[in-house]
Amino acid sequence: MSTHRVLIIIGGGIAAYKAPELIRAFKKNGIGARCLLTAAAAQFVSPLSLASVSGDKVYENLFDLKDEVEMGHIQLSREADAILVAPATADLIGKMAMGVANDLASTTLLATDKPVFIAPAMNVRMWHHPATQRNLSQLKADGIQMIGPDEGDMACGEFGLGRMSDIEQIVTQVMDGLNIEASDVAAKYTPVDQPLKGQHVLMTAGPTHEPIDPVRYIANRSSGKQGYAIATAFAEAGATVSLISGPTNLPDPVGVNITRVETAKEMLSIVQQSLPADIAVMTAAVADWRVDTQANQKVKKDIGAGPPTLSLVENPDILAWLSKLEGDKRPDLVIGFAAETENVAEYASAKRARKGCDWMVANNVSPETGIMGGDNNTIDIFTSDDHETWPNMSKKDVAQKLVARISHYVSAKSNKEPNS
Ligand code: C5P
Repeated sequence: MSTHRVLIIIGGGIAAYKAPELIRAFKKNGIGARCLLTAAAAQFVSPLSLASVSGDKVYENLFDLKDEVEMGHIQLSREADAILVAPATADLIGKMAMGVANDLASTTLLATDKPVFIAPAMNVRMWHHPATQRNLSQLKADGIQMIGPDEGDMACGEFGLGRMSDIEQIVTQVMDGLNIEASDVAAKYTPVDQPLKGQHVLMTAGPTHEPIDPVRYIANRSSGKQGYAIATAFAEAGATVSLISGPTNLPDPVGVNITRVETAKEMLSIVQQSLPADIAVMTAAVADWRVDTQANQKVKKDIGAGPPTLSLVENPDILAWLSKLEGDKRPDLVIGFAAETENVAEYASAKRARKGCDWMVANNVSPETGIMGGDNNTIDIFTSDDHETWPNMSKKDVAQKLVARISHYVSAKSNKEPNS
């Protein structure tokens, strides 16, 4: 399965309404799509519909401080394999040619070092205007790859060059440009590469948010990156993956059935509904406590009375609950994750025994390691009779190595139990 991802910059033209279709076509080919809308594009296509089709947050405004903190324009480009501008309006083409950077779309385009494709769409006269043609020549000289436009009837009633290319044509050209062959995507699905085909993997990832009142909640710094990388690696190994995720800023992993929840109680309930499973990997940083009684209205600052007291109760321990299931109900392999800031080995192996899981993957998340929210990880794996330390590597490599180790364990176990 491909793990390519395209950032689609949607310009403000009538063809923007085709964006959901474009996202679906990429997904069908195993390619994830994340959307960035110009202000004008938001008049033609709703960010909400794009978010639900792409399974990802939609980025709109450079000056949205929250977006910039969570995902800056540099990172948006860094997390994509390519950028596709579709529809590319005369305005966006002009900005690109001039190196203008005055909104999120143009800033991202100026900041990127990834391949950029444009699918122009505009009125035939605008297309033929010398200014547009001059800008297009500049973009070609800059190495931007052109897709179309096509000739045909236009929304404005005229006929000629300026229609955005067919969705299929756009997707094919982007895949060609990235050297992704349709057969490549299919080939990844062959049984030879799928040691976990037929296995149902149940996973949790991300933090949980425990509400205090309608506007405030208790949370933690988990990004979900390691869990999502593991879910992707499982899908690539042919497993059917059910991922129950707390709130994250990450796009849905391609090929994974994801359910997004907020609280620990919701996470437990979806985990219960998703059973039975063969393998369970619980990477979520589930909040240990929730507020006893959530206020229905925003708690007011009572001047003079001092701060309110929060009364906390313990959340259900999903990993411990799952590990203690009996017989067929219990997944054959239950893996927990222990994030510690000190005495990692000692705390993690004690935690494995206490919770009753088979393996405990431990990492040191003290602030100086940069692991929480970062792209690398250093882990130790504790089993009932073994302990391994892995060198520092990317979270993607950890995921692939862990899934390979699990595949090995599953096949060794089934070889030992020929009748099972
Ligand atoms: O106790 P601690 O939070 O350190 O345990 C970490 C492991 O337990 C992780 O695998 C986490 O997903 C799981 N866990 C859980 N439910 C909780 C708390 C932790 O599944 N309420």
